[in-house]
Amino acid sequence: MNKLNKISKRYWNKQPCNIKHSKKKFLSKEYFNEISKKRYFVESHIKDFVQFSKWKNKKVLEIGFGIGTDAIEFLKNGAYYYGIELSDKSFDITKARINLFNYNNKSKLINDEAENLNKYFNSNSNLDLIYSFGVLHHSSSLKKCLKSIRSIMNKKTICKIMLYAKNSYKYFLMKDNLIRYEAQKGVPVIDFYNIDDLNQLFKKFKILEIKQDFIFPYKIKPYKRNKYYKIDHFKYMKKDIFNSLKKNLGEHLLITLKK
Ligand SMILES: C[S@@+](CC[C@H](N)C(=O)[O-])C[C@H]1O[C@@H](n2cnc3c(N)ncnc32)[C@H](O)[C@@H]1O
Repeated sequence: MNKLNKISKRYWNKQPCNIKHSKKKFLSKEYFNEISKKRYFVESHIKDFVQFSKWKNKKVLEIGFGIGTDAIEFLKNGAYYYGIELSDKSFDITKARINLFNYNNKSKLINDEAENLNKYFNSNSNLDLIYSFGVLHHSSSLKKCLKSIRSIMNKKTICKIMLYAKNSYKYFLMKDNLIRYEAQKGVPVIDFYNIDDLNQLFKKFKILEIKQDFIFPYKIKPYKRNKYYKIDHFKYMKKDIFNSLKKNLGEHLLITLKK
């Protein structure tokens, strides 16, 4: 593992993604259910992008599963689930979550970096979906990860990846230091991409679709207490204008690929 990924691992071990999204008893069913509820309320575009029910009885591999919210959604919808995750803390939480909801026999978790995917899978692994949401822009070697991903796909494998958009409302705020932290501060590695970058990065893949979505419209303090109050300019903005803003300046690039 290279030095940056070691630093990154330490970071994600200290603060697994979304771990503070519920105040219920840590690792209880209520705790995990509240985390899921918050995720799909605030980031409702995830369900449109992934279409969880489409993967019933299919083999799904997730890269960077964090605390396993999407993992549980795939399992609930009847997928055979494989996941790889760099942080051991996140790995342990997801393992506990999968045990708690009794999905052990339909899943396999790996505690390793995405760069090593081809140690565990190959193009004969018959994966129907390779999925990664908000992860690969945190890798210090995105190109190596993509090479690894491509090498384990077959002609039928669909790959769905979310990367951060450079041409986005969030990036412009960050660039001008007006940063609004709805996610963790101080992430060691983070990259943002524009469409030209994607065409270059994915030139060995067949790009089926690239969509842009998601602007976080809420006041941060109440949001942390699970109260959703929009900041004024979003509160008064017409829905169709906000939707168009998300499509053009959303912070998530939702990429669908084939080999
Ligand atoms: C922002 S969180 C997203 C987690 C989850 N996908 C979600 O949407 O909640 C990023 C996750 O990627 C993991 N990660 C970062 N670099 C990785 C790598 N090179 N290989 C595997 N996982 C990685 C981190 O440990 C962390 O759990």
